[in-house]
Amino acid sequence: MIQAEPRTPARLAVDGWAQESLNALEHDGLLRHLEPLESPQGPVVDVAGRRYINFSSNDYLGLAADLDVVAGARTAAIQHGFGSGASRLIVGDTTAHVSLEKALARAFGSETALLFNSGYQANLGVLGTLAGEGDVIFSDALNHASIVDGCRLSKARVVIYPHRDVAALKALLQQNPARRQLIVTDAVFSMDGDQAPLEALKALGVPLMVDEAHAIGVLGPTGGGLCEQLGVEVDVRVGTLGKSLGGFGAFALCSKPVRSWLINKARSLIFSTALPAAVCGAAEAALNAMTPQRRARLWRNIKQFSQGLARLGLTAHEDSAIFSVIQGRPERAVAASLALRERGILAKAIRPPTVPAGTSRLRFALSAAHTEEHLSVALHALEGLPR
Ligand SMILES: Cc1ncc(COP(=O)(O)O)c(C=O)c1O
Repeated sequence: MIQAEPRTPARLAVDGWAQESLNALEHDGLLRHLEPLESPQGPVVDVAGRRYINFSSNDYLGLAADLDVVAGARTAAIQHGFGSGASRLIVGDTTAHVSLEKALARAFGSETALLFNSGYQANLGVLGTLAGEGDVIFSDALNHASIVDGCRLSKARVVIYPHRDVAALKALLQQNPARRQLIVTDAVFSMDGDQAPLEALKALGVPLMVDEAHAIGVLGPTGGGLCEQLGVEVDVRVGTLGKSLGGFGAFALCSKPVRSWLINKARSLIFSTALPAAVCGAAEAALNAMTPQRRARLWRNIKQFSQGLARLGLTAHEDSAIFSVIQGRPERAVAASLALRERGILAKAIRPPTVPAGTSRLRFALSAAHTEEHLSVALHALEGLPR
């Protein structure tokens, strides 16, 4: 093969725009960069030649590198090939997709399930189908960015209600009548780990969509999420395959008519190449590996970590596997994250726009695969941080 001469690219106008924007981000302490892992995903990972205890992955049940999950991907890839070739409505649909949807519906007690290529795309597709011009979506102030973007793209009017404030929401519902009203909330809020007041939201009598991304696999007697835990039935649930289920992709749990409506209307499903069958095979294996034993190990860890945080005078709870240690300014969060790295802990700094200004933080996500010692090392390292 002939080696191309390395060339110095001409500076383009967009390079100037990029530099200007990057300078502003750097000035505000908000510059981000990528850091590739050199090891499989897991409770311990290698980054840039160093080994860390990893608290930044949403792999709550430790399934991301599970060999049964990898085998599920392999079997499906051998049967179907890797690429899916087209969107599902063209020729990208396979028996692996259908089999996974049936398994998801069964596992999570829904009439049907419909796959999406990611949680981000699921929220875009579901919100854009359920609501449109002339409708009003009521969205919690701390909902995930994919819900925020789904609301924006839907063309519905969006009313943001104060975080978990059902009384304020009730007043807003009365003040904003519409052809259709829809409430949308995270089940477990992705950056604080607290739970939505689903029973009270449901009692408002307005259609309710719940994003169970951080609740499925973690909460509920069978890992079915917060709706299962509270026994609340809602109109549509969204779940991801990329967190507890250790893979990639997402799904909506809904009735048959809503599924057909989504297939006909959800642009993120219609206009995107289908998930590879291998991803479906992996997810089906992950569903089988989502055992009560793994959940019990995760909860043992949640309790240990929460008690440790409380001993340090830090915010503790037993609502989910997500814990935040607020630092305030972004620079402070980055410095704290680097200090933890020195002690072998990977807990990435989370800064705006992921969290509101003034609440930059260290976010700890626990896994069933963490050991007691991993948690003790992290708590000890946190104790050493400047307050
Ligand atoms: C609450 C919530 N919903 C949706 C998503 C997006 O899911 P995915 O990563 O599958 O796109 C995330 C996180 O990434 C999330 O935290």
